[in-house]
Amino acid sequence: MMRNFFIHISNNEFLNNQAKKWGFFLGADKFIAGTTIQNVSKAVKQLNATGISCTLDNLGEFVLDKTEASKAKDKILSLLEAIEHENMDCHLSVKLTQLGLDIDQDYCILNMTEILDLAKKYNIFVNIDMEDYAHYEQTLTILKYLRKNYTNVGTVIQAYLYRSEDDLMDLKDVRIRLVKGAYKEDAKVAFQNQQEIDDNFLRLCKKRLLDGAFTSFATHDHHIIDELKNFVKENNLDQECFEFQMLYGFRNDLQSKLAKEGYHFCTYIPFGDDWFGYFVRRLAERPQNLNLVIKDAFYT
Ligand code: FDA
Repeated sequence: MMRNFFIHISNNEFLNNQAKKWGFFLGADKFIAGTTIQNVSKAVKQLNATGISCTLDNLGEFVLDKTEASKAKDKILSLLEAIEHENMDCHLSVKLTQLGLDIDQDYCILNMTEILDLAKKYNIFVNIDMEDYAHYEQTLTILKYLRKNYTNVGTVIQAYLYRSEDDLMDLKDVRIRLVKGAYKEDAKVAFQNQQEIDDNFLRLCKKRLLDGAFTSFATHDHHIIDELKNFVKENNLDQECFEFQMLYGFRNDLQSKLAKEGYHFCTYIPFGDDWFGYFVRRLAERPQNLNLVIKDAFYT
């Protein structure tokens, strides 16, 4: 019930707008690396110094106004300039609904093309985050269209969807981030039971490893991470074919432990003032995060 409540308020327009005006509260700064490119570049450099690469997300989604979508695109272009000129070890994560997917598909493609042109020039990979199922088909269509001209673009596949295995088969040559899935989806399209989701996630991870297709295993679940580490050893698989990914501010000890053990590790760093939806979805995933929020509200 708590999960549904948080997912429900994550795209509440009023709360999202208020949060932009008020700035960080509820301890959101533990999970979001500030609002500016300067803030995020400091966080990247600290992680890079410990052998961890990063992927940067300029927060924002479900944009319905061209001025706002265009502003987001410009900020992402500035971010690419910063990555290149400050020599940061990181790539980009973008959301198509931030770049105008709900306004006009062609306009969104145009924005992506501008981003990918600059990213290609600087040899930077751009990952398209996967949003809710209502945008799934369109996201894959746009990805396939963009892949005709750009090899530096990939996306995310959510293991809670029944169709995830078929889509992965279709994306064998594409760099993919595999996740369990963060949205509330209907039983017609997605597993509802956590064990079924976990089992499918692990099965798909192993399949990608055996296929040798580069994959980012994005999970904080140590049971799954341990099982994957064993699977790689037992099958003598190449460590260059995968990386682990986790979100900024989550399980920091485990993040550095994996990097120290020699695994490729990448931290997903969100930043910007449009933080509410992202933050509340993290509370939905793990209500224990609420403890941190409550402590923060009362003891700081
Ligand atoms: P899950 O929440 O299933 O927890 C499993 C177990 O792991 C727990 O029972 C606990 O034992 C342990 N655990 C988890 N979190 C812990 C913590 N903080 N501290 C201690 N133990 C913990 N989703 C999406 O739909 N589209 C996307 O594009 C992305 N992108 C993305 C990028 C990255 C880098 C990550 C890590 C995740 C995403 N996600 C996402 C979110 C993803 O779909 C999923 O909702 C969350 O990662 C939660 O699932 P987990 O597998 O991490 O653990």
